[in-house]
Amino acid sequence: MTQWTLRGATTTYVVEVPQHGQWARLVAWGPHAVADGPSTVAPAGTVHFLPPADIEPLEYAVRGVRYAAPAELVVSGPDGNDECRPVFVAAAQDGDHLELTFLDELRSLRLVLHYRMSAELDVVERWVSVHNDGSAAFTLHHHDSGGFVIPTSGGAYLRYLWGEWNSEFQQAAITLPRGRFTIDSRQGITGHSYSPFLSVADADDPSGTTWGVQLAWSGSWQLSADVDTTGQTRIQAGRVPSSLGLLVAPGSSWVSPVAVGACSTEGPDGLARAFHAYQRTFARERTLSHAVAPKVVYNSWFATEFAVRADHQLELARRAARAGVETFVVDDGWFTGRHDDTAGLGDWEVDPAAFPQGLDAFIEDLKEVGLGFGLWVEPESVSPGSELAAKHPEWILRTEGREPLLVRNQLLLDLSRDDVAEWIWETLDRLLSSYEISYLKWDANRPRLDSGVHRDLDGQVVANLYKILERIRTNHPGVLVEGCAGGGGRVDLGMAARVDTLWPSDNTAPLDRLKIQRGFLTGYSPHLMSSWVTDAEGTHDGRERSPDFRFHVAMAGNLGIGADLSKWSDDQLAAAARHVAQYKDIRDVVADGLVHPLAEGVQYVGADRSVVFLWDTGDGNIRGTLPTRPRRIPLVRLDPAKFYRVGDEVHPGSYLLQVGVRWDGTTDSTCLVVEALD
Ligand code: DGJ
Repeated sequence: MTQWTLRGATTTYVVEVPQHGQWARLVAWGPHAVADGPSTVAPAGTVHFLPPADIEPLEYAVRGVRYAAPAELVVSGPDGNDECRPVFVAAAQDGDHLELTFLDELRSLRLVLHYRMSAELDVVERWVSVHNDGSAAFTLHHHDSGGFVIPTSGGAYLRYLWGEWNSEFQQAAITLPRGRFTIDSRQGITGHSYSPFLSVADADDPSGTTWGVQLAWSGSWQLSADVDTTGQTRIQAGRVPSSLGLLVAPGSSWVSPVAVGACSTEGPDGLARAFHAYQRTFARERTLSHAVAPKVVYNSWFATEFAVRADHQLELARRAARAGVETFVVDDGWFTGRHDDTAGLGDWEVDPAAFPQGLDAFIEDLKEVGLGFGLWVEPESVSPGSELAAKHPEWILRTEGREPLLVRNQLLLDLSRDDVAEWIWETLDRLLSSYEISYLKWDANRPRLDSGVHRDLDGQVVANLYKILERIRTNHPGVLVEGCAGGGGRVDLGMAARVDTLWPSDNTAPLDRLKIQRGFLTGYSPHLMSSWVTDAEGTHDGRERSPDFRFHVAMAGNLGIGADLSKWSDDQLAAAARHVAQYKDIRDVVADGLVHPLAEGVQYVGADRSVVFLWDTGDGNIRGTLPTRPRRIPLVRLDPAKFYRVGDEVHPGSYLLQVGVRWDGTTDSTCLVVEALD
């Protein structure tokens, strides 16, 4: 028996390979102390009527080793069967990276389980590589990134995020004493329906220690929780297998996406903080090198939709500048032929009717009012009547002999083709090199459904997408990229690592948005949460809220403005300027702070101060509103022995922790800065 321990900031992950070498199994995963005693997941007692591999806490189950319980890897070869028995041959541990190698001699299949756990974080990254060392191809029919075993003797309490366009990131939970629960996307894109994130707590203690798994993949994916008859849970995470299977040719390899597991003794909120800390490491290199600093943007979409005209955009820009905005982003409608959503995609030339003096002149005008410039693109799509579609019909994604599917009046380019990937890169590089662009909003407004001709379409498309995003970072490091997909249709760890911010939803109505953002923050960090103030009415919750409320909702992420500012009065602009000024002062705490949801808001805990947002949602209770009965909202993570300034008041930490900050009820929201006094 050989054991390996991966130690994170507060949690530990221990795996072992038994003497027989037929599998790796989990010994413990949880707070450091779990490694100090007997395993919490090892089976005890007699196994009736099943081979041991079916009940062992396997790290990665292969069909042929495990039979009855679900397996992560199912592979067939020319012999026409789907069994495989890789046996342990070697381990390599280098710093925070562990590799366990297994070999099936009959198939010449080498399976490597990869682990990485940084000592500063509480996440374990897991992926596998499958190598064909033989002379015959084999086919992968099921190919997960990992299996995560979680001790839930009382059954599983599963939390997940679901939604649809305009109502993404809705929080939901189910109790599963036994059985299987799956969420997925078969849309070729992360999708609006579910987020690739599943969390688990023991059903006997849903707010206790919580484990979660996210998959770093922006194509089709699936996450399943299997709760066995004893109540123990196992999460499988991976790409959706193609019905044709994935061919691994002799001498070649297949590498899975990374599945990321995290654990927190502080319940689902602590789990969210563990994922936030991990996601911030993606941005660290860029922010530390000062390549980019987040900006307050104005986005034209809600104000002008496709009716982009330079003079009108400039009027909006002047008003945005008065409000303190830093970058003006022209959304859809700026390029030739784009008067509505039926045409233009693929022909990425500036429309002279929209910009009669040219785009450079417009950017100069923006500079004069003190604004940077950003542009919207949707590079993966093509309109059927575009010049691009006529010139390169072979680039359109279709299945041989069938009409390509039209969704939102558009087709997709076949991004599995390297020539298409190169063309997209060259188009973006040309735009970013020809014009002074400091912000790019990358949209994707339809799922990828056609089978295409590439056997591993999903794998190739996502790999090319990632390569293009990485090339933008390398070649244009000063350009901030916002990921968008018809709202929040592509929010996942894969994108989080390659863009600077993500657009969670097209729903910007105050109460709807607040709910969406609360869901978003359960899995994704506030530095990734793009949010604009608009005039939109609620789609789901139409109750009115003040303009301040809208600002405070947007200030809890990456603040932007998307309202039609030509209709805002001087007083409204002045109020906007006050909010934007406050935001510029607190945005570091919002982006980097520890996120603690409060009874009626959220506290972002920074190194030397906290920012507290409180919102009166009016959900489910009717309160007296006497101004002489202010509410008190207790805070967290303050030093009880220190004094803190909150607006005009000073209180000891002990009071703020146990009694709270005062909310007098004269406003429907507030943003408080809580600063420690020396
Ligand atoms: C969908 C996006 O979510 C919107 O913000 C906007 O960019 C439109 N597409 C433009 O077509």
